Amino acid sequence: MSWNRNIPLLITLVATTTIVWVARSGSAVEPRQTVVPSAFATASTGRIGAKLDAVFTGVGSCAASNCHGGNPSNGIAGAEYSIWVQQDKHAEGYSVLLNDESKQMAKLLRLETPAHEAALCLNCHSPQRFEPTPTGEKIHGHLLGGVSCEACHGGAQGWLAEHVRWTDSTRVEDKQRFGFVDTDELWERAKVCADCHVGAPGRDVNHDLYAAGHPRLFFEFSAFMANMPIHWEVASSRERADWSERPGIEADTWAVGQLATAEAALDLLIYRAERSETQQDFKFTGHYPAGQVPPVWPEYAETGCFACHHNLASPSWRQERGFAGRGPGQYPWGTWTFPLVDIVTKQTLQRDVKSGGHSVTSLQSLMAESLPNAKEVVTRGRELQKFLQEAGRDFPRSKNSAGRSEVMLSLEQVAALRNAVAAAGPGVVKENWDGATQVYLALAALQRGHRDLRELPVSDSNDPVLKSLIDLRELLEFPADRDSPEDYSSTPIQTFEETLNTIRTSLD
Ligand code: HEC
Ligand code: HEC
Ligand code: HEC
Ligand code: HEC
Repeated sequence: MSWNRNIPLLITLVATTTIVWVARSGSAVEPRQTVVPSAFATASTGRIGAKLDAVFTGVGSCAASNCHGGNPSNGIAGAEYSIWVQQDKHAEGYSVLLNDESKQMAKLLRLETPAHEAALCLNCHSPQRFEPTPTGEKIHGHLLGGVSCEACHGGAQGWLAEHVRWTDSTRVEDKQRFGFVDTDELWERAKVCADCHVGAPGRDVNHDLYAAGHPRLFFEFSAFMANMPIHWEVASSRERADWSERPGIEADTWAVGQLATAEAALDLLIYRAERSETQQDFKFTGHYPAGQVPPVWPEYAETGCFACHHNLASPSWRQERGFAGRGPGQYPWGTWTFPLVDIVTKQTLQRDVKSGGHSVTSLQSLMAESLPNAKEVVTRGRELQKFLQEAGRDFPRSKNSAGRSEVMLSLEQVAALRNAVAAAGPGVVKENWDGATQVYLALAALQRGHRDLRELPVSDSNDPVLKSLIDLRELLEFPADRDSPEDYSSTPIQTFEETLNTIRTSLD
């Protein structure tokens, strides 16, 4: 049996509900090419769009067979479009808005427009620039492209003509000048993904959407990279390393991803807290707005889902466990995002995320209240966000052969991170399923990165650590008919701890 990295997502990504929505007979399922609903007027795109003022030219401009639409059996370079359209889920980003799940969401929310016409959904599922461009045009085309090339590489109007002249020695700054996004740089790459997989101002999956049926967004950068079909070249000498372009990148991706995801989550928290001032003024018309989610404070989507959604048992393992710095019944905020961030900042930068004005622990205490003080959350959140941005900027980098500085942790640094996660693991898994899953994903990425740096195949199931990780994965998996852990309680937690012990003793 080979070691399949895909499973982390399978644990967590199952359809949210089994309700079958019967489509009205005769309802249109074919997308309309040009949709100009009024909801677009209030749309605001996420950061990449906002930052770069990016105008899309549409995937059609990339797809020619002598550009990116070549045959993948002749090599990946030149076949990026073909791989994306045939294998990558992003290509379906728009069409899923026409499926039963989306129709159910639109119905339950009483959305003002169908999902595939709502900026609320399109901002992530087919991000285009809806607002007037600086020259006053409104561009609505290319919606069918879903999450296409430009959603990650930047709106191409500025660089389409230029980029055919770029070579390996073209400086990144010269590409960025035209609005090209440097997905090669890990922090920037993580930010691109987080824009949709965490959310951003104007790209918001809140608890209303979850309750209506949207799958939970929980992003871990290295797992999502591992699960995206590769459309970039990996040297044949690196076949052992699956998707990764350079040695150990899976570990680097994990570490940078922890910081970048947390930074993105704070951006969203601050946005939500700032908008809470307008909560009183918001008038619900009976229809959910199709442009932006309404201001909701506090937002349950940031709180551990299974703190609320679980069976009550007696005796209760949660009461036995205690509430870790919270009063009984207070909200555990940031359970997905924050359990391991302190390890990354401590091990790689000798900085403490749990103390000082930026303390994540103080923010968590604020957010534990039933009505957190929004102003204070904004102040504290900004400090922590700044701390994380600086950590991202100062993260260890070295120069590659082309003279570019890249995140490249050494074997010793990866081992230190891995050992620290394994040591902290038992404390983290005791808290909740989210923490336990983060521990699993971390150890998977770090062990695979560690093997890669030693030029060993990254997914060898004879490796004792990887073997034990498969056991952990099984403990975390949801039962077939659930979107939550069947029984995350003291018994599985104890097994988890024992397996972590086995892992600790097999670390090499
Ligand atoms: C913040 C960005 C964002 C917004 C806003 C958003 N989505 Fe999503 N949606 C995603 C991401 C990312 C996924 C994939 C989640 C994953 O697999 O981890 C997804 C997945 C889905 C899926 C499951 C697709 C599948 O293949 O099973 C459906 C259906 C869906 N979204 C519908 C909607 C609808 C309808 C709306 C608007 C009401 C919406 N989404 C708004 C980002 C978003
Ligand atoms: C979901 C995000 C995403 C989408 C969508 C996407 N890419 Fe990429 N692309 C990446 C990432 C990540 C990389 C790997 C990092 C890198 O090399 O920049 C990459 C790498 C590439 C590379 C190789 C760059 C290099 O230096 O090796 C090309 C060419 C490319 N993409 C073209 C395309 C085309 C054409 C499309 C659309 C058909 C597309 N991409 C869609 C994220 C994306
Ligand atoms: C513009 C928004 C957007 C961006 C940017 C984006 N994604 Fe996605 N991603 C989506 C949506 C929407 C889906 C769900 C599509 C579907 O199910 O049809 C998705 C699905 C995925 C999936 C499949 C998940 C599953 O359920 O199997 C992976 C893996 C993934 N994204 C990885 C990435 C990575 C890695 C990046 C950054 C390099 C990235 N995405 C950037 C919107 C985005
Ligand atoms: C503070 C408590 C709380 C938190 C945290 C919370 N929810 Fe909910 N959720 C609720 C309540 C209350 C309802 C409404 C239940 C009802 O009407 O029966 C609900 C309803 C739902 C529903 C629809 C009802 C169902 O059982 O299918 C889903 C799905 C859901 N939440 C998912 C999530 C997800 C995913 C998260 C984490 C990202 C989350 N919730 C976090 C309180 C919470």
